[in-house]
Amino acid sequence: MTDIDKSKLSWDEWDELHFPRPAESGFDRVVERAISRRGFLGGVLAFGSGAAAMATGLLSSPSVLAQAASRFAFSPIPAQTDGAVHVPDGYSWRILAAWGDPLVSAADGYDVGQGGGSVENSDAVFGENTDGMETFSFQGRQLIAINHEYVNPDLNLPAENEGVATSADEVIKLQNLQGVTVMEIAEGADGWAVVKDSPFNRRIHHRTEMRLAGPAAGHDLLKTEADPTGTVVLGTLNNCGSGKTPWGTYLTCEENFNGYFGATEEVSADEKVLAGYRRYGIGDEGRYQYELFDARFDTSKNPNEPHRHGWIVEIDPTDPTSTPVKHTGLGRFKHENAAVVLAPDGRVVVYMGDDERGEFLYKFVSNGVYTPGGSTEGLLDDGTLYVARFDEDQTGEWVALTPETTGMETAEILIFSRTAASAVGATTMDRPEWVATNPVSAEAYCCLTNNSRRGARNDDGSIRTNAGGDVMAVNAVNPRETNRYGQIVRWRPEGDDHASARFTWDLYVMAGNPSVHSDAYAGSSNVNAGNLFNSPDGMVIDTTGIVWIQTDGDDSNEGEFAGMGNNQMLAGDPVTGEIVRFLTGPNGCEVTGLAWSADRRTMFVGIQHPGSGWPDDRSPERSAVIAIKREDDGLVG
Ligand code: FEO
Ligand code: CA
Ligand code: CA
Repeated sequence: MTDIDKSKLSWDEWDELHFPRPAESGFDRVVERAISRRGFLGGVLAFGSGAAAMATGLLSSPSVLAQAASRFAFSPIPAQTDGAVHVPDGYSWRILAAWGDPLVSAADGYDVGQGGGSVENSDAVFGENTDGMETFSFQGRQLIAINHEYVNPDLNLPAENEGVATSADEVIKLQNLQGVTVMEIAEGADGWAVVKDSPFNRRIHHRTEMRLAGPAAGHDLLKTEADPTGTVVLGTLNNCGSGKTPWGTYLTCEENFNGYFGATEEVSADEKVLAGYRRYGIGDEGRYQYELFDARFDTSKNPNEPHRHGWIVEIDPTDPTSTPVKHTGLGRFKHENAAVVLAPDGRVVVYMGDDERGEFLYKFVSNGVYTPGGSTEGLLDDGTLYVARFDEDQTGEWVALTPETTGMETAEILIFSRTAASAVGATTMDRPEWVATNPVSAEAYCCLTNNSRRGARNDDGSIRTNAGGDVMAVNAVNPRETNRYGQIVRWRPEGDDHASARFTWDLYVMAGNPSVHSDAYAGSSNVNAGNLFNSPDGMVIDTTGIVWIQTDGDDSNEGEFAGMGNNQMLAGDPVTGEIVRFLTGPNGCEVTGLAWSADRRTMFVGIQHPGSGWPDDRSPERSAVIAIKREDDGLVG
């Protein structure tokens, strides 16, 4: 790890570099099950069957692609290694908005890159590194809310800074370019564009005032000198995936919030707080060194500030004056996204992944029921938080996190959800990224992106653990050691009721490479030379039931990853398991975030941290959201 360019690290990579998970584990807790890697999964998973025979070359041949084209309204495209976006014949794309684009006329001329762009206007432009997004129809207008997960400090600050903020103003600039954009968009003769100066255009960032709600609000662990009530917090951090409520609000999910905090002196706090720092990876130096210029991020001065982040935040996109709400009822961890679905009786169910090696998959079920037009107060706070246990017989249980099951008080279960989940024996997962529910069938899917440490051993032969000491031995749902490819797990709730405590599960796909491997690393039988990919991450199931899968993985196209090309977006059939490639991104990028226009004739897709000067060879390259249409203006999903 010595010759890496730290400024180019993804947040996951940065976190792993600074907070490597412990090399020690309680040996008596080590359990290694001798499970079969074949045969227990059934369904689409028959490793290597026919797949290797189809592996005819590095990139896919047209005949292989044609075979895979049966179910979808497009011809699958081959893998690519270039600096462009590719979509199938009959489709086209244009930029909707790119980093630095003005949302108001006052920000016209904002110039991204190498310290360009003023501090004053940095909260009036489209932020950097787009991620989750959702669309909303309101009073005949089309609104869209889009996350900006992080910034590249080396691109936003003068070159001589070498990627580090050197003044309070520079910190503010970085803070302003992250968070969320809410904006109005409209389709004209030249395609979709931002409606500049719309009253709905709004930036929500690291300094925006928000309210803490739910059972943990006001708890001592959430109080600071600036906020003795523990209910008012500034900012939402590391906004990753998204969600949308049935009542038309946006959910933005705080993922690697830990990396924003540092300490200018030794932290004086009780052991409970310090244990939380260790579990969540809060260290002495923040990625951007905010702590040097903004004391809120200095844990030696404000040890409780990190507890006020790591939540899911609700934003009303239709009211630009509304105060965003952090819902403590949904637990605190490295939230990926929020998949919201109603149980048959109207209770609100929210599925949520915690994206870190060996962490868990969660679910919230509200006490109250949603009724259209009725009050939504408490529907994301008053309820029960559960964590998933996946059993080897392909059943599983949502284990309630309560004072009785965890020995913790309710507010601390929510503030330290990881600790509570460890207490009930939840299943360690291979980095749960997005969860998606199927609108046409009672089932849900979660991308388990990869886990290079699964099954890895310490010097004493014991198997490595997560930061809570939970052993990361292979298990039924995470069955491969050194899992660099990832898999997608699917579950069906008992009684077709997402509020049920029990479920059955299978693996929808195990990514792999049949041109390199002939064992479990070849992938499941629905992986073939025409659809090679690794590290599934973003995922949305459209109204017709097509599973759209976005990747954030190794795009070297070499060795184990040969033939996979750049990160991409694929479409999967939930019934047959068939998966085909729809889009390839420019090299260096991650494809993340997906939403549709109200008429479903446009698909919006996010291109995060692109390389190759994308999209227009201006320097530097710029993350952007693109609008994809069929050239015959037909429905796209
Ligand atoms: Fe922000 Fe786990 O992706
Ligand atoms: Ca992600
Ligand atoms: Ca990822």
